[in-house]
Amino acid sequence: TEQTYIMIKPDGVQRGLVGEIIKRFEQKGFTLRALELKMVDRALAEKHYEDLSSKPFFAGLVDYILSGPVVAMVWEGKGVVLTGRKIIGATNPAQSEPGTIRGDYAIDIGRNIIHGSDAVESAQKEIALWFPSGVAHYATALAPWIYEKP
Ligand code: GTP
Ligand code: MG
Repeated sequence: TEQTYIMIKPDGVQRGLVGEIIKRFEQKGFTLRALELKMVDRALAEKHYEDLSSKPFFAGLVDYILSGPVVAMVWEGKGVVLTGRKIIGATNPAQSEPGTIRGDYAIDIGRNIIHGSDAVESAQKEIALWFPSGVAHYATALAPWIYEKP
């Protein structure tokens, strides 16, 4: 089943939004496969955002990710990459719809609370980068109540 890498950035942790964010993914019906609160080192932050290394905001972005602990997670479910992006909302909170995480809780693009993988392929790369020892496999008893064909 499809998986995505979701990360609550340091501002989301500091502002006490961890429970609220996890709740939204849980209540949608997605399955939590991995979770860790951790301080990130510079090499990992730069690797995670390596596609943006030529952008003028790259140094500030890396400093932002290093500014406090993040909550790194893997979530699983049908269409979770795209649906996760919809739950999160547009990159710039000024354009994020109300009802999305960024639309409800953020104002600045450089303090937008949460990361979500943008494609299945990048999700696989990011999950391997952040959880090199793998994720938890366990049966989910509710699957027949969430999926027509589990
Ligand atoms: P992520 O889920 O964090 O990857 O965001 P995204 O996929 O919606 O956007 P993108 O990958 O293009 O950019 C990664 C992060 O860089 C964004 O979430 C912002 O925190 C930051 N960022 C992107 N564009 C800008 C910008 O123009 N200015 C600033 N200050 N930060 C930016
Ligand atoms: Mg991105």
